[in-house]
Amino acid sequence: MNEVATIVPQAQSNDAKPAENAGRLISDAPHKGAAPGAPARKNQGGGQSYFSVSNLHAYYGESYVVQGVSFNVREGEIVALLGRNGAGKTSTLRAIARVDSPAVRRGEVWLDHKPLHEMRAHEAARNGIGLVPEDRRIIQGLTVEENLKLAQIAPPKGWSLERIYELFPRLAERREQEATTMSGGEQQMLALARVLARDVKLLLLDEPYEGLAPVIVQEIEKTLEEIKSLGMTTIIVEQNAIAALHLADRAIILDTGEIVFDGTAQEVLDNEELRHDYLAL
Ligand SMILES: Nc1ncnc2c1ncn2[C@@H]1O[C@H](COP(=O)(O)OP(=O)(O)OP(=O)(O)O)[C@@H](O)[C@H]1O
Ligand SMILES: [Mg+2]
Repeated sequence: MNEVATIVPQAQSNDAKPAENAGRLISDAPHKGAAPGAPARKNQGGGQSYFSVSNLHAYYGESYVVQGVSFNVREGEIVALLGRNGAGKTSTLRAIARVDSPAVRRGEVWLDHKPLHEMRAHEAARNGIGLVPEDRRIIQGLTVEENLKLAQIAPPKGWSLERIYELFPRLAERREQEATTMSGGEQQMLALARVLARDVKLLLLDEPYEGLAPVIVQEIEKTLEEIKSLGMTTIIVEQNAIAALHLADRAIILDTGEIVFDGTAQEVLDNEELRHDYLAL
């Protein structure tokens, strides 16, 4: 488990040793592939962590964008995956969700003892991956309710429509409205609700606050807090790093496809240098 805060320099060798003291900034820590603070052995999905990514490498053609990423997530934990534009956050989420591109050439991804790296995207979804992509992918020509029902066609089913409408009263009011005519914030709520309508074990949120007015961001934050209180394991990618850090227990910072920090969310909030160097905050 990555309880240990680690800063890893950008150019390193392979003989990594995990950091030993919480909160320590490691200037000579090596790294490529092994998770900071994690055992340097292959993860067998043997029950240590609920979700694990180990030594993940992914490419768009010959463009190498996920460069040996490793981390673990405990059940019920919220992890903020942060980094500058182009750091590889979306690519990492897509590689985890087994979306066709980027192509994963190496590495393992385990969720609740299931090897996602051996699956296609639809199988990974059936096994509990719930990716809410940046572009939301609301289906045109269908109402809100039809979008939700469509999500429930393939088992295993998640939340009932009643439960979803309880969490998202705005969607209840608009259940007969054509979904793509809703506001950006409402469409973001639907994208989230649609994932919850399936049986999700790991929620992957790619920039849920993007392009939304502050008042709507607050509303979605409140909803995410409620989902958090239900114990949903979540990885959130957000440009609004401060908002993500307030929601999250842990933070992982990516830089040019590699993890440069893995520690508590509070440590990032408290560390101005880290925020300046990698998050431009
Ligand atoms: N479809 C693609 N084909 C080729 N290269 C891509 C593609 N999508 C992303 N990239 C490149 O991969 C790298 C990582 O991109 P990615 O979208 O994962 O970054 P990100 O951290 O999500 O950035 P942002 O904060 O801007 O969303 C970038 O250099 C980007 O230009
Ligand atoms: Mg992105």
